Amino acid sequence: MRVLLIGSGGREHALAWKIAASLKVSRLFCAPGNGGIDAIAECVSLGATDVKAIVSFAKERKIDLVIVGPEAPLVEGLVDALEAAGIQAFGPRKEGALLEGSKSFAKSLMEKYGIPTGKAGIFTVYGKALDYLAGAEPPYVIKADGLAAGKGVVVTADLEEAEKAIRSALVDGAFAEAGERVLIEEYLDGPELSLLAFTDGKTVIPMVPAQDYKRVYDGDMGPNTGGMGSYSPVPILTEPVYEQIVSEVLVPIVAALATEGIDYRGVLYAGLVLTKSGPKVMEFNARFGDPETQAILPRLKSDLIDVMLAVAEGRLAGQKLDWSSQPCVTVVLASGGYPGKHKTGFEISGLEEAEETGTAIFHAGTSRANGKILTSGGRVLNVSALGTTFEEARNKAYEALARIKFDGMHYRKDIAIRAVEQEASGKLRLETRN
Ligand code: GLY
Repeated sequence: MRVLLIGSGGREHALAWKIAASLKVSRLFCAPGNGGIDAIAECVSLGATDVKAIVSFAKERKIDLVIVGPEAPLVEGLVDALEAAGIQAFGPRKEGALLEGSKSFAKSLMEKYGIPTGKAGIFTVYGKALDYLAGAEPPYVIKADGLAAGKGVVVTADLEEAEKAIRSALVDGAFAEAGERVLIEEYLDGPELSLLAFTDGKTVIPMVPAQDYKRVYDGDMGPNTGGMGSYSPVPILTEPVYEQIVSEVLVPIVAALATEGIDYRGVLYAGLVLTKSGPKVMEFNARFGDPETQAILPRLKSDLIDVMLAVAEGRLAGQKLDWSSQPCVTVVLASGGYPGKHKTGFEISGLEEAEETGTAIFHAGTSRANGKILTSGGRVLNVSALGTTFEEARNKAYEALARIKFDGMHYRKDIAIRAVEQEASGKLRLETRN
């Protein structure tokens, strides 16, 4: 099979690594890829949202399956365009991707079908939004409706800051079309986790749960990032709560989409908060999570291509996923200054030495030039290690990353400490679900 993967981050390197391991795959292309993907796939310099060019390339190179990593091409309708050209694709079509591309669409669907989530008001008029805000309880959660490159959500206890966020979206047009509508949401209090699932629009097969770290500094301090680390499984998730998420969130949202005439096939990502009154949906995404994928895929023993084909062809019923019982810990190495302004183009050393420890190094913001690997983005590398315990996985990841060096490199030192503590106190649950 000839496969084309779309995207350029750590998630896509983890996907490429797992796809390349499939005996069914004879040739793997990636558009645009990165310095690490380049070692296992043929990278082609096409933008991930250049729908026309991707369809032409897929036709010309007789691609059998296109796998879409990021959300933007899904929301742009890449899967629809590929299918129209007779090319099989993995990922939801444009109308399904609205689940991530429009937060008001997702919220309205959840409200209509009784899927547990925070209450919200949806506004296009500044004055009406302010009236609603005046009656809301802090902390205030303000979200731009559309895709805003991770910058469209403000959580604040300060009323003025909340007003400013609404003004910036609705009046100043900070997010262009994506901010023409805003949501003012109830704050959900409790631990967060991600549960992703494969679905062909009828059957839902959950993956193992994962925990990501959004803040840049240890102790969940500092500004939000694209993700500074992750681990899987999630010890705080008990079996009954897991079952509740599957039966009250994942299965009903796929059924709701089907009832609305939307045939959703691909990955369904539920970002959840375990509140005192049960698990509630904070967000849905229409794709694999980043950096959750870097901690989930090393645990997947089944052939990823088999499950992706079953999803795309609507025959997921009866498929079984085989997971390793070993935990996985992923630590992200970032450029100096990230998530703010940062310089790139620095040489990265120690990659081979790190890989010798048996950990997987998934590249994100890297490029290859004259035989060297250089930094080319904010999040640069992901170091993922499996272990017989969380403690072992965590130690392996930190030992491996100590061998890697580049100018300004920084990372969180506390990834998976929580899981190690929970493991030590005997709270490691969900053994049957790995
Ligand atoms: N880790 C959050 C996301 O992928 O959106």
